[in-house]
Amino acid sequence: MTKPTKKTPITRRSSQWFARDGVHGFLYRSWTKNRGIPHDQFDGRPVIGICNTWSELTPCNSHFRLLADQVRQGILEAGGFPLEFPVTSLGETLVRPTAMLLRNLASMDVEETIRANPLDGVVLLFGCDKTTPSLLMGASSVNIPTIGVSGGPMLNGKYRGHDIGSGTNTWSMSEDVRAGKMTVDEFHEAESCMHRSHGHCMVMGTASTMASMVEALGVALPGNATYPAVDARRNVLARESGRRIVEMVKEDLTLSKILTRHAFENAIRTNAAIGGSTNAVIHLIAIARRIGVKLDIDDWDKFGRDVHTLLNLMPSGKYLMEDFCYAGGLPVVLRTLGEQGLLKKKALTVNGNTIWDNNKKAECWNRDVITTWEKPFKKNTGIAVLRGNLCPDGAIIKPSAATPKLLKHKGRAVVFENIEDFHKRINNPKLDIDEHCIMVLKNCGPKGYPGMAEVGNMPLPPKILKKGITDMIRISDARMSGTAYGTVVLHVAPEAAAGGVLGLVESGDMIELDVAKRKLHLDVSDEVLAERRLKWKAPKPPLNRGYYKLYVDHVNQANDGVDFDFLVGCSGSAVPRDNH
Ligand code: FES
Repeated sequence: MTKPTKKTPITRRSSQWFARDGVHGFLYRSWTKNRGIPHDQFDGRPVIGICNTWSELTPCNSHFRLLADQVRQGILEAGGFPLEFPVTSLGETLVRPTAMLLRNLASMDVEETIRANPLDGVVLLFGCDKTTPSLLMGASSVNIPTIGVSGGPMLNGKYRGHDIGSGTNTWSMSEDVRAGKMTVDEFHEAESCMHRSHGHCMVMGTASTMASMVEALGVALPGNATYPAVDARRNVLARESGRRIVEMVKEDLTLSKILTRHAFENAIRTNAAIGGSTNAVIHLIAIARRIGVKLDIDDWDKFGRDVHTLLNLMPSGKYLMEDFCYAGGLPVVLRTLGEQGLLKKKALTVNGNTIWDNNKKAECWNRDVITTWEKPFKKNTGIAVLRGNLCPDGAIIKPSAATPKLLKHKGRAVVFENIEDFHKRINNPKLDIDEHCIMVLKNCGPKGYPGMAEVGNMPLPPKILKKGITDMIRISDARMSGTAYGTVVLHVAPEAAAGGVLGLVESGDMIELDVAKRKLHLDVSDEVLAERRLKWKAPKPPLNRGYYKLYVDHVNQANDGVDFDFLVGCSGSAVPRDNH
């Protein structure tokens, strides 16, 4: 058995398995050799896990076997020992009732698999929305050297001479069908034209946002956010990440040295500059709290407030991720933020350079896609955090996706008790609603749904659509798909099912929204609300056993990241009660 040397320190985590003598060393090595691993692989070289979310049930990650092979090549080239492993993979389109229900479960899988195995470093492969936060949350709770590789966006959708974007055009074309402007046959034709290559949704939805967050946080190499999935540079990035993680292990560059408070501030500002998904609010708070960084919902308003949206990308704008890539990608955005004094320039990244050193020379090749700071796509559009008696613990709105004139509005509430109630009544021509009303949806938050579904952007009633009106104020404790848009107030906390005031709103109540003042107010007296509370009953969860029960009993509210109360924090990489 090879003894540890200066080059192969006993302190390396994997040596607790593979450098052992006696029966345990035999056990750990012998079974690992069964697919033809030579003995010299156990000489103390860094053992690198490739955490793969490949699954045919996650179409956005269906090319990850190829990506993992590139990472493996890189690890071998750098003298590491790659060991690939699968973890729970969450596909946004197929998983019901919502992939968000399973994000925390997947994060537990990732955390426990990394900790339980002889890994010195790990490469996380993420793509579809929840695969990024679940892997980063799990890895943060272990805190070994970690590098992220996103799968990359799909090529632009193409339909009858136009670019069409994932989700965004699904919603708009679905409204067109409901309004009689598009036939069902045309709708089906577009279905085959939208997703025509490997990769994740190619609008600035949650997957693209989280891939950008990973790059802005410094957890991935430059270029991670935008190289299309089928671009050769995506494979090069994966290979270089494989090489780099081996060096990171030697440098003991653990995740907590990258995921600092400054890194999260950079990510929040980047989210505002890219017009990123509202889902990032929840995910970044959850990731930060796993690694031990204090981050709360008000940080989103504080750091995003004066940032302009620079990207003219769907769902707010016109272009798609492929265009963003060819225009220069996220480095251009990061350079612009740095030049405006809005980047913590010394934040360290996985390649060992600061975020500023990585991006200070980035060049833009298309100012229609990535605008200048002086002439931004939209001004001052970070995520706004609202407060008021309707949301004492906060609610959020993405002004860049909203109709400007609705950002200050008072209207009559039209209340839907839950999503089933909404579906039952929304198409009824007798529904008492007009475009000045405010649609309110209850019981779609973390506990209420459960899982906090992406239903906050409720479709408008057909009778309103037929008038040519495409936006109304909508308020809920739900989330909204990153591919969606509209004047939509989300993440109301506390949620209705947890006893929040949202659960007491009745149709006919007046609600006032004033985004400039960060105000969301229900115009009903405390006395009346107290009377209503006496009659209020918490909704019954659809299942009272298994994972649903664990979820409802332990999930935190939106302002706390929707993590489980018992998962917040980092346990480190030591295996507890290890008697081997
Ligand atoms: Fe996977 Fe949109 S469905 S990223």
